[in-house]
Amino acid sequence: MNLSAYEKIHFGVDYYPEHWPKERWKKDATLMKELGIDVIRIAEFSWSKYEPEEGKYDFSLIDEVIELMSEYEFKIILGTPSAAPPAWLIKKYPDVQPIDYEGKRRHFGGRHHACQSNKHLRDYIDKYVNRFADHFSDNENVFGWQIDNELGNSHGDLCYCDSCQEEFRKWLKNKYGTINELNEKWGTVFWSQGYRDFDEIIAPKITVTGRNPSQILDWKLFCSDLIVDFHKHQSSIIRRYSDKPITHNFMGFANKVNYFDLAEDLEFVSHDQYPGLFHTDFLHVRNSDLAAALDLMRGTKKQPYWIMEQQSGITGWEIMGRSPKPGQLSLWAGQSIAHGADCVVFFRWRNCIYGTEQYWHGILPHSGIPGRNYNELKEFINKFKPLMEKIKGAMPQNKVGIVFSYNQEYALEIQPHHPDFSYTEQVKNYYNAFHSLNIPVDFLSEDSDFENYNLIVAPSQYLMSDKLEDKYCEYVNQGGQLILTMRSGVKDENNICRTSGSLPCGRLTELLGIEILEYDCLRDVLGTVVFENKNYDVDIWADILSLRTAKELATYGFEYYQGEPSITVNEFGRGKAYYIGTNPSKELLIKFIKLIGEDIDLNLNSKLLIDGVEFVSRQDENTEYIFALNHNEKTVSFERLEGWVDYFEEQSSKIKPYQINVYKKSL
Ligand code: GLA
Ligand code: ZN
Repeated sequence: MNLSAYEKIHFGVDYYPEHWPKERWKKDATLMKELGIDVIRIAEFSWSKYEPEEGKYDFSLIDEVIELMSEYEFKIILGTPSAAPPAWLIKKYPDVQPIDYEGKRRHFGGRHHACQSNKHLRDYIDKYVNRFADHFSDNENVFGWQIDNELGNSHGDLCYCDSCQEEFRKWLKNKYGTINELNEKWGTVFWSQGYRDFDEIIAPKITVTGRNPSQILDWKLFCSDLIVDFHKHQSSIIRRYSDKPITHNFMGFANKVNYFDLAEDLEFVSHDQYPGLFHTDFLHVRNSDLAAALDLMRGTKKQPYWIMEQQSGITGWEIMGRSPKPGQLSLWAGQSIAHGADCVVFFRWRNCIYGTEQYWHGILPHSGIPGRNYNELKEFINKFKPLMEKIKGAMPQNKVGIVFSYNQEYALEIQPHHPDFSYTEQVKNYYNAFHSLNIPVDFLSEDSDFENYNLIVAPSQYLMSDKLEDKYCEYVNQGGQLILTMRSGVKDENNICRTSGSLPCGRLTELLGIEILEYDCLRDVLGTVVFENKNYDVDIWADILSLRTAKELATYGFEYYQGEPSITVNEFGRGKAYYIGTNPSKELLIKFIKLIGEDIDLNLNSKLLIDGVEFVSRQDENTEYIFALNHNEKTVSFERLEGWVDYFEEQSSKIKPYQINVYKKSL
């Protein structure tokens, strides 16, 4: 695949030409050109428009749009429309519509109304995508392909139909080989759940009581694999016709599909970034959560990503979010770039006048007359475009890695222990502490290489395999520093409790130098720990640690276990393994990270600690580009570091509200 011809693609819009009279297209193109647009994504929801009747394909409208847009030198991303199967298909094969957790059918009238394993659906997708790819593969104005749209979206509790059930059985057979093996790995001896054959296993719909956690874990893993397979079905067709890049728009921490797996089927990852969502108050949006989503996206393929949908106005369907403040849309787009975007496509070009998304605002208002959003983004795009060319492909060089695991997320979603215990929130909270200290972080899968990182943070490693245990031991043994936290090592990969010793069990006991003989689920209690002679709040959980070879760093300050260790450190080989047996307050976490930072280089620079200001960098061989993003409503000043030179001439060490300063430093 040759991407070099398209090196100058950095900004785009999501456009729905079918929604507007043709007479308007030219005006749109002219305005887009003035805005600084390079690329346009189209067609991802328009199945009924381009195959209005079964087998009658008519892509002439897309041809026309592409032709017009090419006069303005825009490149095109073409979306396959499988997220919106047409009414004629549903009428002919109602079984395409998915079945929910309660066994009820979900009907036509929105989108995503399809079962991804359904054979009829797959057949029709097959036919459409073959035609589509064949028709457009040689069009030099087509830059690449997007398959479906936000796979997993709206499918939280779908689909439990007979077809999915059948696929689940096949998936289990492939995983376990024999039914006896499955019985053992699921612990079906409990509550008389033993199976004699795979055909007795059902898609786990609503039950009278709680369900088997091992079964549900497999169901979630199966659902993720089904989406990857659904994607591959289309990508393999497109690749028969075209060697242009294929991408998919991810949704940050959404968990229906394992994005590390899906990323393998893509030339590059895309992500949809909507900082506003439906929040009524931007104060509720943690900047660090926005940043974390972007860093996770970069981590899924360990390369820069695209934003395929960047917020460009008020968000909203039936209810709406707040209006972004002047400067905020550009600030958020700049944040996407700072964390690794090589191209930012804004959703959407213009507010739609009909349908569910009338109030999901675009760059242009309903009237089509450019206003504040357009003017602000125009200024932003024109200012940042030359920089985008320079930093294309540049990555940060981070020394801290946070492990993000879909398996842990699934297992703890099945059994959160405490109503406020969420694995993803734990991950985000640890990230938040590093973010507040301006310590840049990479997200890693459990399969990633850890060796280039000075510190690995792996929150709640609840499911533990021998392989993963060995990997953590080896990393620390070789000199790495590792933080493991509450509820690590509790279960095996099949979601069955481990018994090879006291928690954290197996080699983790040796690695961490502790034993956990007791624990307490902190229901409705705020606890405390004492760290460096000061009290800090903790909640959710308390692992009561007894020391083997570890040293205590903090003790509990409440309950019958007052004085018992809650945070420990153990020297293991050439490295150190920390254990945090509770959910620390942000204040405590920051103190703790600073303590570790005295020992190893984490890229912490205390001169840059300003509330609400992010310093993020990307670097190529010779230059580091530093983005200073002011999320505050007020101007802030700071002391810039040695070697930082203004990238944009007019800058200083002051950043105005919602502005971005950029510096560069020679390496
Ligand atoms: C998602 C989708 C878009 C659109 C926006 C706004 O991100 O990908 O098609 O629906 O949300 O709702
Ligand atoms: Zn189904």
